Amino acid sequence: MSSPPFCLAGIVGWPVAHSRSPRLHNYWLDQYGLTGAYVQLSVAPGKLALALPGLAALGFRGCNITLPHKVDALALVDEVDANARRMGAMNTIVVQPDGSLKGFNNDGFGYIQSLLDAQPDWRADAGPITVLGAGGAARAVVLSLADRGAKEIRLLNRTDAKAQGLAAEFGAPVKALPWADRHAALADVAMLVNTTSQGMHGHPELELDLAALPKHALVSDVIYVPLETPLLAAARARGNPTVDGLGMLLNQARPAFHAWFGVMPQLTPELRRAVEATL
Ligand code: ATR
Repeated sequence: MSSPPFCLAGIVGWPVAHSRSPRLHNYWLDQYGLTGAYVQLSVAPGKLALALPGLAALGFRGCNITLPHKVDALALVDEVDANARRMGAMNTIVVQPDGSLKGFNNDGFGYIQSLLDAQPDWRADAGPITVLGAGGAARAVVLSLADRGAKEIRLLNRTDAKAQGLAAEFGAPVKALPWADRHAALADVAMLVNTTSQGMHGHPELELDLAALPKHALVSDVIYVPLETPLLAAARARGNPTVDGLGMLLNQARPAFHAWFGVMPQLTPELRRAVEATL
């Protein structure tokens, strides 16, 4: 009698010790009664091309990809799905039945889902959206908001040229504004998103005057350490609804687990608390 297949996946990064993904996926493996493991795969910069071809032979169903490999991985898999191609980065690899590797990016899905979890009637086309930052997280946020029908996305970044570059690459509805105008760029918005590293544990807080921000505007931060950034605390204090960054992390993991192991796992308050306890 053959035993059930071992469900094996992991996270490829450098460093990976801080990642919450093992906690999350191992929780689900246990919850759904699957025999397997989700492990840390510490792969040094420059070693990705040696590591990935071994995945299928070692019995992995796939892996997550994190810093610093998210962009390099695009050139090292057999196929890249359209979304990951547009985002210019990959966060998930799925080993195909023939052993080939296909890359995906679920960050945008995770982001939108985190908004809907917090506000089920949230809509991207409710009004202008201001996004701060133009790094990897901004790419996923901006593209997913545009895909959901956002009519106007004001993009501002400390290094203005990067915001201009992204706006030129993505086109309408994304338009770049100078970083110096970020306080005024909050007027009339339905939503404000921080994708910069400012406000993260160990970083200074974002320098932003919220005076022009409408009181009903949703304020979202992709940072999850701390769970309530100074930006979210200030927004909450003046009555704005807020969404923290943990939901994005938790939700991006769901389609990956589904692709590897055939079960779409659910987010429960208990799981969220278990991950929060590690922050
Ligand atoms: P991620 O992939 O998480 O988005 P990243 O690509 O390193 O990380 O991007 C970090 C973002 O935080 C960038 O938009 C960066 O702005 P620059 O492009 O000017 O570097 C932004 N950032 C970092 N330090 C900042 C600061 N002191 N003030 C404002 N923005 C800052």
